[in-house]
Amino acid sequence: MLLKDRICIVTGGSSGIGRGIALEFAREGARVAVVDRQETPLRGKYHETETTTPTVSEIEKLGADGLFLHADVADEAQVAHVIQQTVEHFGGLDVLVNNAGIHIPGGAQELSIAEWDRVVGINLRGVFVATKLAIPHLKQSKYGRIIQIASVHAYGGGAGPAYAPAKAAVVNMVRDTALEIGQFGITVNAICPGYIETAIQDYLTPEQVEEALEKTALSRFGLPRDIGRAAVFFASDDAEWVTGASLLVDGGFAAGV
Ligand SMILES: NC(=O)c1ccc[n+]([C@@H]2O[C@H](COP(=O)([O-])OP(=O)(O)OC[C@H]3O[C@@H](n4cnc5c(N)ncnc54)[C@H](O)[C@@H]3O)[C@@H](O)[C@H]2O)c1
Repeated sequence: MLLKDRICIVTGGSSGIGRGIALEFAREGARVAVVDRQETPLRGKYHETETTTPTVSEIEKLGADGLFLHADVADEAQVAHVIQQTVEHFGGLDVLVNNAGIHIPGGAQELSIAEWDRVVGINLRGVFVATKLAIPHLKQSKYGRIIQIASVHAYGGGAGPAYAPAKAAVVNMVRDTALEIGQFGITVNAICPGYIETAIQDYLTPEQVEEALEKTALSRFGLPRDIGRAAVFFASDDAEWVTGASLLVDGGFAAGV
């Protein structure tokens, strides 16, 4: 087991990619706090149509320890509270995965300013807040790791004026944070997923789904597990000298851009 007894937080862990990460961590022996604004998994139009069980039930079926904690990552008081609850429940913190994110479709003329604030508030500010509040605890760990879930859209336009810039900022924030916290032996890296089979794709038309699939070199969408395995790598001892990096896990989508 690559993560035996490591204490991990996965935000947005009830559904989709976060759920995939939480389950792969559990498979590797980690103790996982699932932080989400809802415990019931999202069910999508195209994907995850049958997913119903809470992530913690699935973690326990794998023989690992799980804990559900309710929080909206846009609210710093709630984030501070769940980090504290994790530390008290499990006795520390080794790995933070900032995965919670949303997408609101629309260009600069459609997206309201409140919607822009909401996307950036969760996808960028939320990542900063959890990172800032977790660092004092990660400093106490011998295995401190931060993993930020960005996107292939960090590297190009076309995903709207809030989502893509927020993800690009996360990629650059990883470099900045790496320089700051390397002295404490904490690593920080980003994973940039391509199109993954989750409910976040509900805003796409069937034609757009087909087009994204055609642009994916490996001819299938990713599964939450594909991102989960990359996250296991960054969280494990195998990645102890990797920091400030961003890894595309996109089935070759960006290779053609
Ligand atoms: N699925 C993809 O194709 C894809 C591609 C690239 C990047 N991503 C990124 O991966 C991450 C996960 O996406 P997903 O596809 O699993 O999405 P999803 O919508 O399937 O799941 C997101 C989860 O996060 C939770 N969440 C959303 N906002 C929250 C908040 N403010 N506070 C707490 N929890 C919150 C939701 O309740 C849900 O459980 C996001 O950051 C997303 O931008 C996804």
